[in-house]
Amino acid sequence: MKGYFITFEGPEGAGKTTILSILHAELSKKGYDVISTREPGGIEIAEQIRSVILDKNNTKMDGRTEALLYAASRRQHLVEKVIPALEEGKVVLCDRFVDSSLAYQGYARELGIDEVLSINEFAINGLMPSLTLFFDIQPEKGLTRIGKNSQREVNRLDLENLSFHQKVYEGYLKVADRFKERFHTINAELSIETVTKEALSVIEKHLNKG
Ligand code: TMP
Repeated sequence: MKGYFITFEGPEGAGKTTILSILHAELSKKGYDVISTREPGGIEIAEQIRSVILDKNNTKMDGRTEALLYAASRRQHLVEKVIPALEEGKVVLCDRFVDSSLAYQGYARELGIDEVLSINEFAINGLMPSLTLFFDIQPEKGLTRIGKNSQREVNRLDLENLSFHQKVYEGYLKVADRFKERFHTINAELSIETVTKEALSVIEKHLNKG
């Protein structure tokens, strides 16, 4: 495929959503044909699945059900939005992808990174990102940041305790180590300006590599 598939990962409160929207604007200004999207969601069917997964009332949801729903929403989003954009040669910036499932469901929910990877391999059918930016922030700091943002929706996973979010963080470190060739870690505890500048420079280098 002609385009570039770039994913943004990190624990809650890493600032990746804000940074993604700034980068979208910067890259468009520089003449790149960019789209941004998010998981779970990005298209109607996947947004519907998102609302089931993240509904605070769905306290009975089993871990494997959760993992399968994320994978189902991922599949639909790829087919309807990501693959067509890549075929047109676009740069696709995606807020979360398969590594979120490996860190949250595989490691933090203890379903197993390999097990969650295998259901996701079925869903993505070989389509992995060429670059993944990992926005690295200690979970305590991330949670403090989101606590201060009154505009943000509170979802079912936000209600998990600090030890769950610490496991998510540890899970990300394991996943980043496993997929070193596509992961680039950015210190997200620095100012938004600094983090955005570094992310832009990493993305441009990647796009210029061809
Ligand atoms: P968001 O807050 O970044 O929109 O993500 C929604 C929540 O879903 C967030 O708590 C992370 C979680 N998540 C998973 O647990 N597994 C996944 O595969 C994805 C994409 C998100």
